[in-house]
Amino acid sequence: ANLDRVNALIARMTIEEKAGQLTLQNDPFRWRPEGVNPGDTLDTNQEQTAAEIRAGRMGALFNGVGAATTRFVQEMAVRDSRLGIPLLFAADIVHGLRTTFPVPLGEAASWDLDLAERTARAAAVEGGAAGVHQTYAPMVDIGRDQRWGRVVEGAGEDVLLGNLFAAARTRGFQGDDLKAWSSLLACPKHFVAYGAAEAGLDYNSTDMSELELRSVYLPPFKAAFDAGALSTMSGFNDLNGVPTSGNKWLLTDILRGEWGFAGFVVSDYTSEEELIAHGYAADGRDAARIALMAGVDMSMKSGLYMKHIPDLVQSGDVPMARVDEAVRRVLMTKAALGLFENPYRGSDVRVERRVTGSREHLALAREAGRKSIVLLKNENGLLPLPKTGQRIALIGPFGADKVDLFGPWSIFKDARLSVSLEEGLRAAMGAGGSLTVVKGSDVEAPIAGGVETAVIAASQADVVLLAVGESQNMSAEAQSRVDIGLPEPQLALAEAVAATGKPVVVLLRHGRAVELSGAVKDAPAILATWFLGSETGNAVADVLFGDHAPTGRLPVSFPHFSGQSPFYYAHKSTGRPAASRDEGFKAQFRETANAALYPFGHGLTYAPVQYSPVRLSAPAMGWNGELTATVTLTNRGAREASEVVQLYIRDRAASITQPIRLLKGYRRVTVPAGGSVEVSLPLRFADLLFLGPDLEPTVEPGQFDVWLAPNAQAGEPARFSLTR
Ligand code: IFM
Repeated sequence: ANLDRVNALIARMTIEEKAGQLTLQNDPFRWRPEGVNPGDTLDTNQEQTAAEIRAGRMGALFNGVGAATTRFVQEMAVRDSRLGIPLLFAADIVHGLRTTFPVPLGEAASWDLDLAERTARAAAVEGGAAGVHQTYAPMVDIGRDQRWGRVVEGAGEDVLLGNLFAAARTRGFQGDDLKAWSSLLACPKHFVAYGAAEAGLDYNSTDMSELELRSVYLPPFKAAFDAGALSTMSGFNDLNGVPTSGNKWLLTDILRGEWGFAGFVVSDYTSEEELIAHGYAADGRDAARIALMAGVDMSMKSGLYMKHIPDLVQSGDVPMARVDEAVRRVLMTKAALGLFENPYRGSDVRVERRVTGSREHLALAREAGRKSIVLLKNENGLLPLPKTGQRIALIGPFGADKVDLFGPWSIFKDARLSVSLEEGLRAAMGAGGSLTVVKGSDVEAPIAGGVETAVIAASQADVVLLAVGESQNMSAEAQSRVDIGLPEPQLALAEAVAATGKPVVVLLRHGRAVELSGAVKDAPAILATWFLGSETGNAVADVLFGDHAPTGRLPVSFPHFSGQSPFYYAHKSTGRPAASRDEGFKAQFRETANAALYPFGHGLTYAPVQYSPVRLSAPAMGWNGELTATVTLTNRGAREASEVVQLYIRDRAASITQPIRLLKGYRRVTVPAGGSVEVSLPLRFADLLFLGPDLEPTVEPGQFDVWLAPNAQAGEPARFSLTR
């Protein structure tokens, strides 16, 4: 029925109206939740957009939110345009709307898919109530180069974790019924290999083998589409000489031909116009033609489709059938969202008021916050701290900060929903606690007298909490770094504070794996706390004082040095692996072995857990068979421990060289204080699949190593053979 209705509409549309449906512009009515209302005077930009909408020359707007505004603007399309086709409202709701959840990379450290689904659901509820239909999320780019500023938006370096989070977030955003006001159309982005930009430089070109593309960078997109995502965004980057927003092989052959994707493709902000700067299109008309013919259905921001499609069709350079196909995809998606029956869907101010920043969502933000924190180091059981009975000095640029805790892409946040570290700690400590707060340094610049004041505060304290790291602007789009260390003024502050001899707990704030050095690296306790969003202070206090023992595990490896970038655990062996030879001619840097300081999967808790050697249910796996790997975990501590047992494999010899380890599964278990548990994970024939020389999935007989380990760098493997 939808298809008939859509085809009937297409038959009535002029070419301008068709181009209009493929045109997406910034929403000029945006930003304020109270927005623009009937009776308000419109500014010039708003007047122009209103005229385009009424003329049927605009199909979608992005980054405008608010029930009142979206309703007001939707009326222009539905009531005043000739065909009354509703607008699609899109927005970058990446980790919350008014309530801000941890940045996606931080949340991936929970390794908790149910949590990711619930935060995406809550974000969709707030977004839907604000009249939004589509979110530009999840970001599913694999992030293996920590210099790249957008690592913060994804699920980290691993393919399996990337696939699982892509699917969970898609399910969360889209809910059970896409027509419901509380469902947001997911838009996994940025198709594809944007995260593999050379030197980690944002927007830079990517050159990689098809094998690598299909093995690492495409799978999370496929996982999101399999979970039901009905839109995607083409990237900014050049891939092997063909920019992704003009890449027919990607956008049509793979996406449609191989995968049968039925939704629509939107370009990233002017990315089709950028085909000119790439040197792939001669001018705007050429760029519009190439992008449209490659498979970009909707044009974001550039206006090129509106400007050139009528002429491109008239001249025969683009067949009308291709324009109709793109329009059909957009209209079918609008139909799937229920917009033809109810163009106003969630735009209801009362619901909006009730659900945004609700107590329930804030509780979820706190839960997500504490589950995202990773305990990197805890010498001599320094943590957890007692809430009273000792003097705590909170030192660093993030102690009292109420802004830099949200993280990038929190453009719709309610800035009032912000619990600073200081506020969270004070609330937890109550009247009996002793806390002194000193900034000591700005994020990237020293403060006059700051270090001296900090040293006095540290000297008078029993323990120092050092809140250092990156500002939210340092881990974001267009914020690539050549050095992933902490800014110099903060390192100097750390040295001075550590020199007092007081025990230092580092509270790292960051949107990527960072290089730790000096007193920060040497501190006896380090917590990776990312950007945790609205409930930052409460979440950190929960972990610091032990109300929640740390449960997070790194989704990215922390290298020793920036210069190891790109760095990830699942790399190939080389012919001269560092561990294999005594002499110097091997794969290592002068300054360090090519290993992680804190590996992927690492994360401590408040009890020591020991792993027994891994045991396999049989020494061999039959063709299409299965094995079970088992390990015994022993907790000699006084608290129960939550442990993430990780199953890695290595294919010892194959027709395509394989990573030295690859995550194939994991399980979270509780190990009681002073007790042991036996943990078994299945290892299936399908887990041994890899893409062979012909790029087809294959399994080859031979020897395999298996680890059940607490991280990607620990443990000894067991070996089995696969026989045909
Ligand atoms: O969704 C984003 C994208 O990730 C980067 N460029 C702008 C888009 C819309 O805001």
